[in-house]
Amino acid sequence: MTITQKSVLLAVCTFLGTWLVFLGTESLWAHAQQSQSTDEGARLYQRDCAACHGVVGDGAGKLAGTVASLVPRNFREEPFRFISTKNGVAFREDILRTIRRGIPEVGMPPALLCSPEEQEVLADYVIGLHQQGSPDEDAPGAQWKFPSPQGNRQTLEESQAVFTANCSVCHGPDGTAKNAPAFSDSLGRLVKPRDLTVGDFYGGATDLDLYWRIRCGIPGTVMPAFSKEQLTDVQVLGLIQYLRSLSE
Ligand code: HEC
Ligand code: HEC
Repeated sequence: MTITQKSVLLAVCTFLGTWLVFLGTESLWAHAQQSQSTDEGARLYQRDCAACHGVVGDGAGKLAGTVASLVPRNFREEPFRFISTKNGVAFREDILRTIRRGIPEVGMPPALLCSPEEQEVLADYVIGLHQQGSPDEDAPGAQWKFPSPQGNRQTLEESQAVFTANCSVCHGPDGTAKNAPAFSDSLGRLVKPRDLTVGDFYGGATDLDLYWRIRCGIPGTVMPAFSKEQLTDVQVLGLIQYLRSLSE
């Protein structure tokens, strides 16, 4: 080997070596960051969530069931319910939205003690618990976008007819679900169709929230997802107005 060949070889080795060291440090650093945020997630979760959702995320915290309506989600085995996707699998943003809003109707407080960054860390931690318990779940599908349909809006009478045809079998002709049949959720627990006249919506009450509830259904329960073949956007927007009129 000539001197020039040797120095070229040395230069190549030094270059590769530097890259290997750089890549090594990079992945170690990423790993350290990840476990740091998992530790932080665990700390926040145990502080603010475990009393209801259970130390391991199985929904069996010490407050669970202390009142009948307090049936916290079992993150490990149940699907998330308040979603926006077309395939029934929650987006990270869906979970984050619930964490920020809370579910005041059942006593779940919004995570006000947490900064926005901590709320994100909590969302990732909850997703991690879910993935441990349900490793075969698909990735989230496309998101339903709020429509702006052309043409006429439905009258309230027309919307009531759509409700009677599609919803009253569970929610009752008047929306109170008074004589509703008994149903089970995906873990075999009783789940009642909601009384839609009180104006409480666990997954949020904006038009977009209600559009998602009707289009996506409520996974893990019998509340079905209504496709565009079953209900047009004009019909769904009319139904949202009709739901509002029920609680006025
Ligand atoms: C006082 C009890 C309580 C506390 C504390 C609580 N939750 Fe909940 N949470 C509930 C109940 C009850 C439900 C189920 C509501 C229902 O019936 O749909 C729920 C549901 C959820 C859901 C499921 C939403 C979906 O789309 O299915 C998420 C995510 C969630 N909680 C996150 C958290 C996080 C994160 C914390 C801590 C910052 C927390 N919760 C603290 C009671 C609680
Ligand atoms: C097969 C029975 C069934 C049918 C049909 C049905 N629902 Fe439901 N619905 C349910 C059940 C059960 C729940 C409560 C799920 C839960 O507790 O998480 C529910 C909950 C809801 C909620 C409350 C969501 C929230 O955030 O609290 C809304 C809104 C709703 N349904 C609207 C409708 C509309 C509109 C229709 C017709 C287009 C309809 N449902 C058809 C069973 C049904």
